Amino acid sequence: MEAINASIGFDRRLAQQDIAGSRAHAAMLAATGIITNSDADAIREGLLTVLSEIEGGDFPFSAALEDIHMNVEARLKEVVGPAAGRLHTARSRNDQVAVDFRLWVRDQCDAADSALAAVQKSLLGQAEAGADWVMPGFTHLQVAQPVTWGHHMLAYVEMLGRDRSRFADARRRMNVSPLGAAALAGTSFPIDRHMTAQALGFDGPMTNSLDAVSDRDFALEYLAAASICALHLSRLAEELVIWSSAQFRFVRMSDKWSTGSSIMPQKRNPDAAELIRAKIGRIFGANVALMTVMKGLPLTYSKDMQEDKEQVFDAADNLMLALAAMAGMVADMSANRDALRAAAATGFSTATDLADWLVRELGLPFRDAHHITGSLVAMAEKQGCDLPDLSLAQMQSVHDGIRADVFDVLGVDNSVASRTSFGGTAPVRVREAIALWQEHLG
Ligand code: ARG
Repeated sequence: MEAINASIGFDRRLAQQDIAGSRAHAAMLAATGIITNSDADAIREGLLTVLSEIEGGDFPFSAALEDIHMNVEARLKEVVGPAAGRLHTARSRNDQVAVDFRLWVRDQCDAADSALAAVQKSLLGQAEAGADWVMPGFTHLQVAQPVTWGHHMLAYVEMLGRDRSRFADARRRMNVSPLGAAALAGTSFPIDRHMTAQALGFDGPMTNSLDAVSDRDFALEYLAAASICALHLSRLAEELVIWSSAQFRFVRMSDKWSTGSSIMPQKRNPDAAELIRAKIGRIFGANVALMTVMKGLPLTYSKDMQEDKEQVFDAADNLMLALAAMAGMVADMSANRDALRAAAATGFSTATDLADWLVRELGLPFRDAHHITGSLVAMAEKQGCDLPDLSLAQMQSVHDGIRADVFDVLGVDNSVASRTSFGGTAPVRVREAIALWQEHLG
């Protein structure tokens, strides 16, 4: 029974939140006259002693005492004597664990926010360095149109910005206090839930005691935001794995962020990127696991809910690790301007520019222009050259209206420079976006 029942092996991570919650509760019990000031003072002092013992690292946690709440209370009794027994008045472990865990998850929202800002800054640094460097833009992982390196880096800055706002939304919604819901029904003692809510930095108390002890959707929202964030990280990580290969050579990882092989001396493996790519597995796994645990549970508290914590702890630890590694790896990597540029010009990446030119300059319907461009691409392909390598005479053999100035739009620099529409890849737009993000990220 003890082996399946005890949670102290993992919920000891809630010690600080548990003690903060208990200190707020004790102060409120005194303020409302439920316990004496001297008992409350002894309890509040004693809890600080217990906290420093736990932080000191040699606290004798006991599985027989089941969880962090009873471990702290038992030690408090040894420290302050019988007054400790008054702390649990008008409270239950059900509202206690709900408040502790909520405080812990709230801190993780803040931690994710700062860690995401650090990754954004690393990406922004890359964007600034290569705002106008041309590279191939891909669809279907096939060369589509030339884009700028800065634009590609900023795409991730945008994604991570939405991740930050998801964590902020979740935080705002979870920032209400379950404390004082007691076991499930509230209490007959004249408690002041607004006071404890305020002391713990909440916006106010939760309004329904049954909901307060049952709700774990704050943790689910955190895991959902963490899953989407980890998914974004996995996409960037995947690109970095591909780009650092000998076939692409778009980026070079610093020595610090790559590893060698024990047998192949030439290897520079992007292990950190691969591990970041993999983290979505356990983070989304935690999301699915907790959803499944909560599904179908009748109101209010059931012991099933003890299975919430390990999932969230593991997801949070790994998300923070992935974000820290991504921030460091991206800041340290160097983009290969020449390789990006050479690749940008392959795959007939300016075919759309040619079609657009036929529409703009010769007044052709886009469908006809598309067809003519297709014939020119086929001609170049047959000759084993790129579009700008065709002669004017060859172009005119497909459409006699084509003039020499068509070659202006076939270069990759002109191609990207022309994409000035809002949100487009032109360096002028990219520099504007960089300036906005710089202001925003400080
Ligand atoms: N260890 C428990 C948990 O994590 C604390 C709440 C226990 N409440 C109870 N009535 N047994 O959920």
